Amino acid sequence: MNAVTTLTVEDGVAVVTIDSPPVNALSAPVREGLKAAFAQAEGDDAVRAIVLACAGRTFIAGADIREFDSELVGPHLHDVQAVIEASTKPTVAAIHGTALGGGLEVALCCHFRVAVPSARVGLPEVALGLLPGAGGTQRLPRLAGVPAALDMMVGGRPIRADKACELGIIDKIVPEGELLAEAVSYARKAADAGTKLVRVRDRSEGLAQDTGPEVFAEFRKKHARAFHGFKAPANIVKAVEAAVALPFDEGFKREGELFEELVHSNESKAQRYQFFAERETAKIPDIPKDMPHIPVKSVGVIGAGTMGGGIAMNFLNIGLPVTIVEAKQEVLDRGVATIRKNYQITVDKGRMTAEQLDERMGLLKPSLAMDDLAQVDLIIEAVFEKLELKQEIFGKLDGIARPDAILASNTSFLDVDAIAAATQRPETVVGMHFFSPANVMKLLEVVRGEKSSDSVVATAMAVGRRIGKVAVLSRVCDGFIANRMMAPRMEAAQALILEGPMPSQVDKAMVAYGFPMGPFAMLDLVGLDVIGWDAATSSSSTVTEVLCEMGRWGQKKSGGFYDYDEKRRPSPSPVADQVVRDFQAKSGKQHREFSEREIVERLLFPVVNEGAKLLDEGIAIRASDVDVALVYGYGWPVFTGGPLFWADIVGLDRVIAGLEAAGHEPAPLLERIAADGRKLHQYQVA
Ligand code: 3HC
Ligand code: NAI
Repeated sequence: MNAVTTLTVEDGVAVVTIDSPPVNALSAPVREGLKAAFAQAEGDDAVRAIVLACAGRTFIAGADIREFDSELVGPHLHDVQAVIEASTKPTVAAIHGTALGGGLEVALCCHFRVAVPSARVGLPEVALGLLPGAGGTQRLPRLAGVPAALDMMVGGRPIRADKACELGIIDKIVPEGELLAEAVSYARKAADAGTKLVRVRDRSEGLAQDTGPEVFAEFRKKHARAFHGFKAPANIVKAVEAAVALPFDEGFKREGELFEELVHSNESKAQRYQFFAERETAKIPDIPKDMPHIPVKSVGVIGAGTMGGGIAMNFLNIGLPVTIVEAKQEVLDRGVATIRKNYQITVDKGRMTAEQLDERMGLLKPSLAMDDLAQVDLIIEAVFEKLELKQEIFGKLDGIARPDAILASNTSFLDVDAIAAATQRPETVVGMHFFSPANVMKLLEVVRGEKSSDSVVATAMAVGRRIGKVAVLSRVCDGFIANRMMAPRMEAAQALILEGPMPSQVDKAMVAYGFPMGPFAMLDLVGLDVIGWDAATSSSSTVTEVLCEMGRWGQKKSGGFYDYDEKRRPSPSPVADQVVRDFQAKSGKQHREFSEREIVERLLFPVVNEGAKLLDEGIAIRASDVDVALVYGYGWPVFTGGPLFWADIVGLDRVIAGLEAAGHEPAPLLERIAADGRKLHQYQVA
C-alpha cells in the first residue's frame, strides 16, 4: 500500500498491517496508507472481512504528537476513520502493546476488538493537555459508560486488557503469540455467520445509566484540586456531557471545537514540549547510545536515614538485593523499620500484597560493616551532608568495593569531584542525587564529575530509568540543577516580604501559579532551622533567623511562618506576621500592594535568570533538561512547561525588564538569546 502500510488477502480476509516504528503513530503516511488499504479492501469482492494489525512492539500509540505544531499534511484522521467505520464487511482491530489515544480511537471505528492479555488500552491525551479528538469522547462512553470513560480520559492511565474486556471496550482476549491468527478467525467467523454489524457510534449500552447531571457535577467536585491550572480535564468532561446529551454527529462536532481550544493553548503546548523533553534527557551528545553499561545486579546504600531508606526501596521494588549500612545498630533498626512501615502502608491501601512486602524485605540486608559492600555493583552514599565525612567514606570504599563497582554520592550540594578525589578511581565516582521522598519523587540528577567515565555516567542514567525515575544529567556545581534553580526563588520571596506582601500572600500567588505549595509553607515543612540556621551565630538579621530564635522552627516545632492546628492545617500566624511587619518597618523600603502577577514575576524571573547562567556554564546539556528537572523535582506546574519554556511564553524582553526593575543583573545568555530573537527553551549547550 505504501512503505508503512501493507494489505494482504488470504482466504477472503484482508489484513491491513501498519509498520511504522517506533510506536506506529498515526503520521501522514500511516493515515494515507490506512485510508487506501481500507478503501481497497472494501472494494475488493474477494475480501469478506478486514483485520487491522500492527507490526513491532505495539498497536498504534496515538496521533503523531510532533504534527500538532505544523500544518496538516495528508488526510485528516477523521476522514481515515470514516472510511474504516463505513466498512460493510466485519472489521477487527488486533491489539498488542498499547492502543493509545488516536490508536484506540481508530480501533473504536472497527466493529470488533481483540487483544492479547498483556495489551493495554487508554486515552492519555490529557497528559498532553488535549482531549481524545478522534471521537474518543463520544465512542468510549457508549461502550464503557460515563464514569469509566471519564476516569480513563481524565486520569489518562491505560487499563489492562482484562479490565477493558469487562468494560466492553475489547470483545475477546486471545492467547499471546496467536493474535493475528485469532483476529483473522474472529473476522472470518463474523463474516460466515453474517453477524449484524453495529458501529460503536450507533451503540448505546454504556449510556443506559449514570448519565445524569449529578454524575458530572460530582466528578468535577471530586477532582477540582487536581484540575487546577489544567484546561484539558474540564473540556473532556464537557465533551462527555455532549456525548450524553446530543446525537453522535453533533457531539462529535462539539468534541472537535473543544479539542481546537486545547490544541492551540499554551498549556497543551507546554505539556507536549514536556513529553519530548522528558525523552530527550536520556540523550547525551558525547556518549554513544550503544555505550556498554556496567551490569548492576546488587546495590549498597550507606546511611539509613531519610534518604538512604527511600533510595533502598527503589531497588528493592525492582527485585535487586540491597545491603544497607549504618553507623549504629539502633539507627539501622529504625531505618529498616521505616522501610517496612512504608511498605505496610502500601499493603494497607491494597496496592501490594503481604507476600510482596516479605519478598522485598527479604532482599534487604542490614549491616554495620562497610566490608559487606565488597561484592555489590553500585554503592550509593547517603550520610550527613559533610564533605570530610563523605571523603572518609569514599576513601574507605576505595579499599573495599570491587574495582568496577560504581561509587555514587547522594549529596545535595557538595563537590562531587572533591569526593571522587578521596579515591584512587575517580572515574567510577558519580553523583546520584535523589529527591525526598526518594521512593516517590521522580527526579534523579546524575552528576557527572570531571573524571566520571562515560560508561559510569551512562549506567547511572540507565539505572535511574530502571527504577522508574526521570534521570537528568548535571555537571558539578553548588546545588546542581534543581536546588540551584530554586534557591533564587527563596531569596526573592524573603526579600519581597520586606516590601509589603505577607508570606501567606506570596504563597497564595505561587499556589495560584500552580505550585503545590509556596516557599514559606515549604520552609515550615522542611524546618526553618535546616536551611543553615545556627543558634551560636544567629544575629536576628532576617525574619527566618528571628523566627528560629523564637523557637518557631516550622511544622515540627511551634509553627513557623504559619501556625498549625493538630491536623497540621496552616493559618497565618499573628506572631510571625508581626515579625515580618517589624522587619518591613526597619527595611527602609517603600511598601505597597503587589498583584499576584507581580509576585509571580518577582519570584520566578530570578529562577529563569539562574537557568540561563547554569546553561552558559554548561551545567545542564540543554534548556529542556532544566525544565524537566524542575517539574519532577519541585512540582513546577507542568502546564507552564517549566521555567524556561514559561519565560519564552512570557517573553524574554519582559523577563529582562522585570529582573532589572527588581535590581537583578540579567544573565548574559538571556540577553543574547533575547537579542537574537531565539527561544530560551530550545537552547542546547554546544
Ligand atoms: N507521536 C510521536 N512520537 C511518539 C509518540 C507519538 N504519539 N509516542 C512515542 N513517540 C516517540 C517518543 O518520542 C520516542 O522517540 P525517541 O526514541 O526519539 O525519543 C519513541 O517514540 C519511543 O517512545 P518511548 O521512549 O516513550 O517508548 P516507551 O516504550 O517507553 O513507551 C508509549 C511507548 C507507551 C507508546 C509512549 O511512547 C507513549 O505514551 N506515547 C504517547 C502516547 C500518547 O500520548 N498518545 C496520544 C497522542 S495524542 C492523540 O492521539 C490525539 C488524538 O486524540 C487525536
Ligand atoms: P539523615 O540525617 O536522615 O541520614 C543520614 C544517615 O547517615 C544517618 O542515619 C546517620 O546515622 C548515617 N551515617 C552517618 N555517618 C555514617 C557512617 N559513617 N556510616 C554509615 N552511616 C552513617 O540525612 P538525609 O536527609 O538522609 O541526607 C543524607 C544525604 O542526602 C545528605 O548528603 C543530604 O544532603 C542528601 N539529600 C537529602 C535530601 C533531603 O531532603 N533530606 C534530599 C536529597 C539529598
